Amino acid sequence: MAYHRKNHFKVYQVKDKFFLKAKEEGYRARSAYKLKEILEKFKIISTGFNVLDLGSAPGSFLQVISRIVGPSGKVIGIDLKKIEPFSGKEALKNITTYTGDVFDVNYLNQILGTQKFDTVTSDLMPNTTGIKFLDHDNSVDLNIAALKITRRHLKRGGSALFKIFNSNELRRFLFDAKKIFKDVKSIKPAAVRATSKEIYIVCIGYLGSSTYTCK
Ligand SMILES: C[S@@+](CC[C@H](N)C(=O)[O-])C[C@H]1O[C@@H](n2cnc3c(N)ncnc32)[C@H](O)[C@@H]1O
Repeated sequence: MAYHRKNHFKVYQVKDKFFLKAKEEGYRARSAYKLKEILEKFKIISTGFNVLDLGSAPGSFLQVISRIVGPSGKVIGIDLKKIEPFSGKEALKNITTYTGDVFDVNYLNQILGTQKFDTVTSDLMPNTTGIKFLDHDNSVDLNIAALKITRRHLKRGGSALFKIFNSNELRRFLFDAKKIFKDVKSIKPAAVRATSKEIYIVCIGYLGSSTYTCK
């Protein structure tokens, strides 16, 4: 019992720390600190980059990316939910947002056309049901859709970031990712709750779309 209590306390401590920090520093979500930690370790976004961010609402990844790429770069965010505009004091002019579904290929073609990006980030997460195998399966399906978008819109040599549940199903995704990137690594940032199964996959050095067709 004492053990459970202690663990419980730890979980909320983590939540509090990043939640409060996000509020204090003006980030829309605590996810900002997950991305910051990843980018400290893997320099996959730099000044002047064009970045595509999938699953962007409410928009903390967009805030972090926008500040790194600066006025010479740009970031496009897509989510099923409306992303509130970055106006007023937090005006970030290099952000463009769209409301749409990453499974809707026609819509994506319409908004992205033939654009190519230096980096693609995805923080996509399905609505969880509480049924583990279903949630894990849905997370992999969402990531495979993100990987397909990445194949179409990432520049050769570019990098990508994906969030996924760490389960047996993950192998389905890793199999495809390893065929089209030079290097694939996983990381669990400190801002991810200790009890959460989510991890991030960092893919470096896109080999181009002609090398392999994802299933
Ligand atoms: C963890 S949240 C993203 C948080 C965001 N990165 C941030 O920093 O504020 C996951 C997002 O994935 C979005 N999502 C889930 N399925 C989607 C789909 N099929 N198409 C587009 N967005 C989707 C959800 O609406 C949700 O906003």
